Amino acid sequence: MDRCTPCEIVPDYERPGGCWVNPIEAGTLGVVSRRVQFVPWRTAGRVTEQQRSVDEVVQETGWVFNNETGSSLTLEQFVLTGDEEVSSYLTVFGLQGPMNEDKIFIEIGCGIGRMTCALTREFGRVIACDLDAGFLQRCHETVGRFGKPDRLKTVHVADGKSLNLPPDSADVAFSYITFQHCDADDALSLSSEAVRVVKPGGKVALNYRSRSQYDVVLLPLGGLVRLLFRVPGLGGWLSGKRVFARLGWQANRLEPDEVIGPLAPLLRDVEVWRNPKSRTSGYKAAIKEFDGINKHHYWIIATAR
Ligand SMILES: C[S@@+](CC[C@H](N)C(=O)[O-])C[C@H]1O[C@@H](n2cnc3c(N)ncnc32)[C@H](O)[C@@H]1O
Repeated sequence: MDRCTPCEIVPDYERPGGCWVNPIEAGTLGVVSRRVQFVPWRTAGRVTEQQRSVDEVVQETGWVFNNETGSSLTLEQFVLTGDEEVSSYLTVFGLQGPMNEDKIFIEIGCGIGRMTCALTREFGRVIACDLDAGFLQRCHETVGRFGKPDRLKTVHVADGKSLNLPPDSADVAFSYITFQHCDADDALSLSSEAVRVVKPGGKVALNYRSRSQYDVVLLPLGGLVRLLFRVPGLGGWLSGKRVFARLGWQANRLEPDEVIGPLAPLLRDVEVWRNPKSRTSGYKAAIKEFDGINKHHYWIIATAR
């Protein structure tokens, strides 16, 4: 399969199908792709392009998205894990409802569409965004089999930090197990982009990883692995190995106040959702608990002003 080519040079918000690649972003792709925290995703993206079927993609790279492995894993089973998580998070966060058919939902870090299928069944329009263009191609295929493809558009986040979408254009912006893998500045930039693209009264539902005792080991090891990603020959091999890729992803730990602080004037009704075993909290944020949340993760749920 070819890498995603600029199929729509100028974003047309109303046209269904296809993916958006900003001409400026396309021109700078060579530069931005050198950013080292992008390496494992780009490597996995290349692997997805080499597989014959989306089932094979899941067997080779399922671990990249939800840590599932297995030579007999099918795309259907992989998508079912996304169906379950989408249903539980939308319910718990109060984002489910009959009016969703009229709503526009933005997913930041969609991967190959594990959750996007369920999202297209729930929302009238889903704009799935990812750093890797190969994942976006596979996302279209996955949604073609298990979702509603006529409701899907994809957006390439070529610079890893901005969304090529108009302001106030969506009802919900959502991101799951993505921001923890970004450079901290990129995660903060994407958080602010999520708020920018949501209409006043719309919702953001954004997932992060907080600090833990394991970080004393994990973060330095992650930094070392990312350094090794730069070594010609070795880097490509390492980034395709599960253990090293998972270490290399350990890119940032942001506490709720670091995210909420700069965005506070733009948000109201801010909630921090955590596992009951977690003590994570945010200044002036209501604390809510759900045991389905990983104890190292938290969510910021808020309404855009
Ligand atoms: C662990 S996967 C999760 C995918 C999906 N949310 C799921 O649960 O199946 C993280 C995804 O975030 C994407 N990603 C990582 N850094 C990104 C960035 N800076 N901008 C946009 N997407 C990014 C990766 O390419 C990958 O598809």
